[in-house]
Amino acid sequence: MGQLDGRTALVTGGSTGIGLATAQRFVAEGARVWITGRRQAELDAAAALLGDKATAVRSDVSRLDDLDRLFARIRDGGTGLDIVFANAGGGSALATIDALTPENFDRTFAINVRGTVFTVQKALPLLADGGSIVITGSSSASRGNAGFGDYSASKAAIRQFARTWATELAPRRIRVNVIVPGPTDTPGLRGIAQEPGHVQPLLDAMAGTVPLGRVAQPAEIAAAVLFLASDQSSYMTGSELFADGGEVQTFAAA
Ligand SMILES: NC(=O)c1ccc[n+]([C@@H]2O[C@H](COP(=O)([O-])OP(=O)(O)OC[C@H]3O[C@@H](n4cnc5c(N)ncnc54)[C@H](OP(=O)(O)O)[C@@H]3O)[C@@H](O)[C@H]2O)c1
Repeated sequence: MGQLDGRTALVTGGSTGIGLATAQRFVAEGARVWITGRRQAELDAAAALLGDKATAVRSDVSRLDDLDRLFARIRDGGTGLDIVFANAGGGSALATIDALTPENFDRTFAINVRGTVFTVQKALPLLADGGSIVITGSSSASRGNAGFGDYSASKAAIRQFARTWATELAPRRIRVNVIVPGPTDTPGLRGIAQEPGHVQPLLDAMAGTVPLGRVAQPAEIAAAVLFLASDQSSYMTGSELFADGGEVQTFAAA
């Protein structure tokens, strides 16, 4: 028997990285899964990997009309939702405060903050009472990483929204928690490297900030998301769960 038998989950940004690993774990635990992303080829590949318990819908979280279309599809699917994993996000132009442009700021906040807020708002009519919302934060929100200002601030913002939503949605017994990944080996993280030859040095540098001495694999983050999404965390709401190899709670030398 799976931990999510009979449940239906939405995973935004479910076509690669942490979202895809979580969708795989959810399916393995018995859930039906809706996944989203902007690139059709990545969605098609993910849907093929996940099998017939998954449905992929091309949708950009920063576009309200896309979100409306997504939730209309889910509503028409007839199952409603038990779990919302608002995970789509990422991106930093690695700009320090003197170089940050309004365009980069707006882009980061449009996806990571506005996208998360309106994903959750528009999911609520479909989400069952007693359901679980998990939001992807970042260990960056608890550190002062140079060049990550807009990204870190966007993740701090949604962490605070989660506290508020935990209170507002408690009457419906909907729990809201934040998963806080540390550096995780995904296409998104690798994409920060400017050139292919810079990928391994980037991963090594990030591993150096983590007491466990390595970056995470996406499946390790998915295991923690499963905990927050499932009944195993039934007395947790408004909290954040750090799956960061100890990065934030320690002062490991970089
Ligand atoms: N990897 C890390 O080290 C790390 C650490 C802490 C937190 N995180 C967070 O974890 C989450 C997942 O990142 P990841 O590392 O797994 O990166 P990833 O491999 O790049 O995955 C990002 C996913 O989100 C989708 N996405 C991005 N922008 C979107 C948008 N506007 N609308 C809909 N889907 C969108 C991507 O597909 P498309 O590009 O096709 O849209 C993809 O499916 C992000 O919120 C990220 O900030 C990552």
